[in-house]
Amino acid sequence: MRVLGITAVLCLLAAAVSADPVRVRQPKADDEELAWWQTSVIYQIYPRSFKDSNGDGVGDLRGIINQLEYLQQLGVGAVWLSPIYQSPMVDLGYDISNYFEIDPVFGTMDDFNEFRDKAHSLGLQVMMDYVVSYTSDQIEWFQKSLRREDGYDEWYVWAVGERNESAPHGYNVPSNWLSLFRGSAWEWSEERQQFYLHSFTVNQPDLNYRDDGVVLQMKDVLRFWLDKKVDGFRVDAVSQMYEAEGFPDELPSGLTNDTEANNYLQHVQTQNRPETYEMIKQWRAILDEYQAADGKAKAMMLEVYDDPEIVMPYYGTPEEPGAQFPFNFYFISQLNAQSNASDVNRAVHLWMDNMPEGNWPNWVLGNHDQPRVGTRLGVARKDLFNMISLLLPGTAITFMGEEIGMENTHVSWEDTVDPWALNAGPDLYESVTRDPERTPFQWNTSANAGFTDEGVKPWLPVNENYLQGINVESELEADLSHIKVYRKLVDARGWRVAQRGALDTAIISEWVFAFTRTLDGEPTVVVVGNLGTDVETVDLSATFDGLPDQLTVHAASISSSTQSGATVSPQSVTLEAGVGLVLVANSTSAA
Ligand code: NOJ
Repeated sequence: MRVLGITAVLCLLAAAVSADPVRVRQPKADDEELAWWQTSVIYQIYPRSFKDSNGDGVGDLRGIINQLEYLQQLGVGAVWLSPIYQSPMVDLGYDISNYFEIDPVFGTMDDFNEFRDKAHSLGLQVMMDYVVSYTSDQIEWFQKSLRREDGYDEWYVWAVGERNESAPHGYNVPSNWLSLFRGSAWEWSEERQQFYLHSFTVNQPDLNYRDDGVVLQMKDVLRFWLDKKVDGFRVDAVSQMYEAEGFPDELPSGLTNDTEANNYLQHVQTQNRPETYEMIKQWRAILDEYQAADGKAKAMMLEVYDDPEIVMPYYGTPEEPGAQFPFNFYFISQLNAQSNASDVNRAVHLWMDNMPEGNWPNWVLGNHDQPRVGTRLGVARKDLFNMISLLLPGTAITFMGEEIGMENTHVSWEDTVDPWALNAGPDLYESVTRDPERTPFQWNTSANAGFTDEGVKPWLPVNENYLQGINVESELEADLSHIKVYRKLVDARGWRVAQRGALDTAIISEWVFAFTRTLDGEPTVVVVGNLGTDVETVDLSATFDGLPDQLTVHAASISSSTQSGATVSPQSVTLEAGVGLVLVANSTSAA
């Protein structure tokens, strides 16, 4: 499994082994009003792949503007856009050359303004990608730093190791640090006669947050977009912001013999340094300042792949709050297509039991860096994992296309554009490439799945399964489809019990996982799923107390023999392979 910021997450908690449910405290027991970032599904758009409006084979803002009604009808509450800023596109937009401009491939600032206004008028919040750890080498700041210009001298991490006449540049590299995209994290600059640090591609030099100018500049970036009335941020590659002073070597991890691979080393010196937590708190204070000024909640969610003791402190404390939440990536790092009920239970508890009191959970099922859910967790289990992630307490984050069950697409070496894959070369690229999950969104059955015009070559190939029913239009027409299940789940998130109910999880059998959401005076919701490959019939009342004799099916996987509207006895619930059911104790009330 490839995970950015690779640290194998050790399973800290013993799995519950009996069928007795395990209670997790309520996320919000009181009547305090919940903010949009708590109740919403946050929908990630990878703009290059959503909708192309001008026939150049790359998605753009106008394409998104034209499809905003789709998102409103889907019921999601917020849209997070992967980077749309000016960029040479070495890392497909994560290498930014101007934080205050829109790249022409996506449109103009006027297009952005229109997008934001229309999103807001449809009740959708707008979240931007805040890329903080590095810039493009083409940005003016780096060019000035290269020339040691006024005040920009130390904006990037410049250094040389010991003098060594036999080394290619007359100096050793400052340390053994490795790029996440393979090979040394140090690149020689002829111009400055020093190495610079790059945690990712050589064209993404790391910013030096020990320079006050950088700190001020990046706060200006935040303020610029807050002034433009965005509602929040996904903060990119938070772990890589600071590194230890003096550049001490890192120790081998023992995880691989591949000395070029990033996980060859343990990243104690280069990731999640104490200063990073402090900077997040300063950014949070800026968000709070804007929230106090206009009365509208602002939110920050952080990209950090790591163990709970590293991730959880990013929530901050009541006195000094940090992010609204660091992303919960445990459904990505802890689960695979073979995971059984105790694996899922353990992943749920890994977050819930380690999250500091008073904070809000979240569930990330996928993103533009990870194989698609069907490919990663099992084609038959697509609906089940949407049920789990949307009905556990907290915010759900959906990567575009998961609502229609898109799968990874094979991308040949010739068509490969992901810089990580290009670095790995033709023999290794398939073990790291992220192109397969980034292929164009599948709208309908017309040419190129309706993503771009007929005859245009999209920037990545379209998955042929758009012709087998995996597309929005066909799924909306079908009696049973992933999108219809997804919409029922979004509806259920509006129920008071889903927003505030207690959570009890249970391992019903090796392959059947279940949880309930309960709240006084509200109908209980049961989510039950068969992760295995054989049909199972289970008795839910043997595990969960107080269930009525009949439960109504609110949502069911498309391959289930029991569909929504049916009633089942909790004493005998039959689940085909991979099938999930959302069962309700009686009629529900809106929150
Ligand atoms: C994190 C982003 O999610 C990923 O797509 C990108 O490649 C890296 N940052 C490096 O820019």
